[in-house]
Amino acid sequence: MKERVLLLYSGGLDTSVMIKWLQEQQNLDVLTLTLDVGQEKNDLERIAEKARKLGAVKTITEDVKDKFANEFVSQGIMNNGLYMDKYPLSTSLARPLMAMEAVKFAEQNDCDIIAHGSTGKGNDQVRFEVSIRALNEDLTVIAPVREMNMNRDEEIEYAKVKNIEIPNGGKYSVDENLWGRSVEGSNIESIDEGIPEDAYKWVLPVEKSLDIPVDILITYSEGLPVELNGRKIPLKDLIAELNYIAGQSGVGAIDMIEDRVVGIKSHEFYECPAAVTIINGHKYLESLVLTKRENQLKKLMDQQFADMVYSGLWFDPLMDHIKKFQQSINGAVNGKVKLKLYKGNIIPLGAESANSLYDFSKSTYGKNQTFDQSKAPGFIYIFGSQTIAAKKARKRHLEEMVMKE
Ligand code: ARG
Repeated sequence: MKERVLLLYSGGLDTSVMIKWLQEQQNLDVLTLTLDVGQEKNDLERIAEKARKLGAVKTITEDVKDKFANEFVSQGIMNNGLYMDKYPLSTSLARPLMAMEAVKFAEQNDCDIIAHGSTGKGNDQVRFEVSIRALNEDLTVIAPVREMNMNRDEEIEYAKVKNIEIPNGGKYSVDENLWGRSVEGSNIESIDEGIPEDAYKWVLPVEKSLDIPVDILITYSEGLPVELNGRKIPLKDLIAELNYIAGQSGVGAIDMIEDRVVGIKSHEFYECPAAVTIINGHKYLESLVLTKRENQLKKLMDQQFADMVYSGLWFDPLMDHIKKFQQSINGAVNGKVKLKLYKGNIIPLGAESANSLYDFSKSTYGKNQTFDQSKAPGFIYIFGSQTIAAKKARKRHLEEMVMKE
């Protein structure tokens, strides 16, 4: 009997080429696993059919949208997860879930090998392999695209020879899920020009975006969005709806020069309309309900989270501690945020919360204010005393040194 390999199969160019290669060059029986994480081409049956045509002995498909939204994206929201303060980690967050599912199905189907479609230059290989090995060290992980060392043009050539359908001409390398769309390759690789218009799909380029502002209202409960414009909806549907609404207003297109785990700097394009909007509102609400110290520490934790998710360390024990911290601190993040979406901008139009720490009577410069300004000088005298003393001591020391010379 031939050895069996479970292939994480998207139906795209890389993984389709791999079905053939694993059979013909490695003499393996190929089982494919295709997951619906909210990508646009989510016709799982059609993708499975393509895999069977290419020779897969078994095709497994699963809709994991709810799991992705509730267990992974939810963490992205509570942590304001933005790598390099920009990228909402859409691809990054899906990888540990895919690794988990792959390990589960490999174990159930007697596969000792898991194959994925990442190249040897990106972050995804790191995410898949660290995650899979953290879950089951007995499994072998292979990355045929990396091992074949084919470039994209050679892959397209191979696909033509083997009669493999090439999706959308294969111009860009795209990864999609409900939290965002990642686009790489082709003209995006040049950094002396902007993002070409044909790379856009979910967001209208700003000149073509709606000419009228669109106001939205997001209700957060314990850090998570639960209502859009007063309507209660499950997280995955709220995200899908907001992807459309915000995208029409030109919100969520991200052009960034990114530091990959493997040290490469790359020019990337993301479309994450819902993610950018939800995190923006979440941060605004946090600034209303959390104390100054809570906000300070949370920012550090948020950054740590983003860096770890980006780097493929979802299963590191530190993640469990971060999750507990975030669960606890997000307990206060309840309320409504109104936002205006207009030509790529997100403009706050107000927030309200039962946990609000904003005290109008203290903040106002108008009459009827309750802040006792006569207490301010005493506060400043004590608050600044150490800084003032240190400044004096250093000056004295400097003068003594000069005198000695
Ligand atoms: N650079 C991004 C990340 O590491 C996206 C990679 C997505 N892959 C792709 N084929 N476009 O999360």
